[in-house]
Amino acid sequence: MNDLNHLAIIMDGNGRWAQRQGKERSFGHEKGAKNVVEITKYAAKIGIKFLTLYAFSTENWKRPKNEVDFLMKLLARFLKSERKTLKQENIKFDTIGDMSKFSQSLKDEIEKTKKETAHCTGMTQIIAINYGSKDEIARAVNKAITLGKAVTEEYFSALLDTADFPDVDLLIRTGGDKRLSNFLLWQSAYAELYFTNTLWPEFSPGELEAIILGYSNTARRFGSL
Ligand code: IPE
Ligand code: IPE
Ligand code: MG
Repeated sequence: MNDLNHLAIIMDGNGRWAQRQGKERSFGHEKGAKNVVEITKYAAKIGIKFLTLYAFSTENWKRPKNEVDFLMKLLARFLKSERKTLKQENIKFDTIGDMSKFSQSLKDEIEKTKKETAHCTGMTQIIAINYGSKDEIARAVNKAITLGKAVTEEYFSALLDTADFPDVDLLIRTGGDKRLSNFLLWQSAYAELYFTNTLWPEFSPGELEAIILGYSNTARRFGSL
């Protein structure tokens, strides 16, 4: 049986889920945000230590301005209402990605959520926002240059946004596409990968449970025999 310390999810398919019902894409993002709460609670309940959720990529700024604006507002709203749940469930909040691009009010919400859950000792929920692996790696390289020390794998890992978290054990992508879209490339070097056609708003604890069962029974060799 494999341990599952770090689960990462590419939450894809919100827009298609809404459009299939003749609704605006924003309706799918609302439903997707609700599902974040449900899946987070379930992951904490079954003892996962770190849950990283891909919410907004460095490439997602290319979307129409009204969708980007909506997502930023949804994120602030989501943090305000999720804080209470996180505290109740003893879940610590963290982020990865470059926060410098966000509005001051969104940065404040992020900081407030981190601060208010800093004492929590259960699972850590990590939201990836304005996150891209290539951007993260480039920022880490610049830190290494500034520090002027040759990197080792371990030292380089400590310069990434994920410095405080272990490598990914299991990476799930919903929404049917089989690609990583610039998510945790370094950290997923030995992750087990699972792609499901289920769209994120419909991804359920039951499906997650079944995926984890399959993961538990996979032989992870890490190059050994
Ligand atoms: C994922 O759903 C959420 C974000 C990228 C913000 P999408 O918005 O990509 O939904 P689809 O893939 O277009 O259905
Ligand atoms: C990946 O979804 C990013 C997030 C889920 C936040 P996208 O919908 O942006 O990915 P591509 O563009 O289909 O690769
Ligand atoms: Mg998508």
